[in-house]
Amino acid sequence: MKITNIALGFFTAAAIFTAGCTANQTVSEESLGLRKTNLYTEDTTVGDKTVYNQKAAGESKLIERAFENAPPMISHSVEGMLPITINNNMCTSCHTPGIAEAMNATPIPKSHFTDFRPDTSLAKDGSIVKNGKMVENTSDFKTTSKSLDALSGTRFNCTLCHAPQSMETVAPANNFQGDFRSEGLNSRSNLIDNINEGVK
Ligand code: HEC
Ligand code: HEC
Repeated sequence: MKITNIALGFFTAAAIFTAGCTANQTVSEESLGLRKTNLYTEDTTVGDKTVYNQKAAGESKLIERAFENAPPMISHSVEGMLPITINNNMCTSCHTPGIAEAMNATPIPKSHFTDFRPDTSLAKDGSIVKNGKMVENTSDFKTTSKSLDALSGTRFNCTLCHAPQSMETVAPANNFQGDFRSEGLNSRSNLIDNINEGVK
């Protein structure tokens, strides 16, 4: 008795399911993913083209910062400026403070002329010395910053952090909206004033 009931239940469910399916429209495989081309061949599938800004330095429009104190992206063409080598860094020829203002280029900020690394050495007994002080545990040493007269070596390779942008549409669209705690921080940085925020 029970078994017939269950069988009947299955049968009804299957009937409803089949009816539901025939009422629905079919969904093509191509419409499921970001890629709208045939999934079984690469012949018609090409990636988004990388198209860097062609505007020369001095003619480009600045790109808004992605978030507070994000490294600004390079708004101009970098053709002929790369690679940066030990003897040739064209970026500094326009962006060094003192020159940059006259070029209408954003000057390299103070944070790039600061050494955030403590002087570290080993004492004779093997203990670690940071900025002249013996530290038991290196994590006890919180922060340090020393103004430099020259660009910090850690900032020499600008394109490590600042990159030119490809302007062609990419899928999916990026709808990220940064939050800025005070006005104007979407177009300038103030990292050097806040570098110890949340640490001390
Ligand atoms: C010939 C001078 C010149 C050179 C060389 C140059 N820049 Fe620029 N840069 C500018 C100017 C001027 C601007 C302002 C936008 C404009 O007018 O095109 C700018 C804008 C920028 C910005 C955006 C700044 C902001 O506030 O948003 C960044 C980042 C940047 N440059 C980085 C670089 C890097 C990295 C290099 C080396 C690969 C470089 N620049 C080489 C002149 C130059
Ligand atoms: C290790 C990553 C890194 C490197 C390398 C680096 N930058 Fe930056 N840069 C940043 C960040 C992060 C900011 C934003 C926060 C700040 O001011 O430090 C910034 C900010 C800037 C700004 C905007 C300053 C302002 O007042 O808004 C300029 C211009 C700039 N950098 C130029 C350069 C140039 C030119 C080089 C190479 C000589 C370089 N940077 C190397 C990370 C870097």
